[in-house]
Amino acid sequence: QSAITIQAHVPGSMTELAQDIRACRACSLQCHATQAVVGEGPETAKVMIVGEQPGDQEDLAGRPFVGPAGQLLMGCLEEAGVAREALYLTNAVKHFRFTVNGRRRIHQAPGVEHISACQPWLKREIALVKPKLIVSLGATALRAVSGPSDRLKDVRGTLQEHAGEGWAHLTLAHPSWILRLGPTDQAERERQALIAGLSKIKGVL
Ligand code: URA
Repeated sequence: QSAITIQAHVPGSMTELAQDIRACRACSLQCHATQAVVGEGPETAKVMIVGEQPGDQEDLAGRPFVGPAGQLLMGCLEEAGVAREALYLTNAVKHFRFTVNGRRRIHQAPGVEHISACQPWLKREIALVKPKLIVSLGATALRAVSGPSDRLKDVRGTLQEHAGEGWAHLTLAHPSWILRLGPTDQAERERQALIAGLSKIKGVL
């Protein structure tokens, strides 16, 4: 798996892409998930946000970022002065990966094989939307966009120009990770860092 390289021309519309993603059988995750969760937002968006994968609520609703992590993200976007409606929101992996514990579905991070299987969909989304800025949230999104060489701790918060690709890349902490820190001072510091990072979006809109 290598960094994303976009082909000059990728045929098909967003509607066709959504149909193809919903029909995807490239990995085992589709066996258990309720549905594939496709990206959402204007096809002309200048900024694309890439999360990890749908969570429990996204899997049921069929929409990205509607659960607790999404709510944290939306609050941070609001504090950063960025409207959700201006952004194209998607995930590195389109199906929910989980284990079952009684009646609860417990999130499991996607494996490298799931990220690789889903990478063609992300490539097509990038080719169709042509964002000026891609914001990756967390290590899975970073790997899907940049390949395995970049480490989250090295690139987090730093805007990286991808000469030749047509977009810059900004990697920020994943909101689920901030939620897992609980109501702590560290969580609040990380939330403020996420807001500061997201406020860079305004320079592109
Ligand atoms: N919801 C999403 O759609 N993606 C994430 O990465 C987390 C929550």
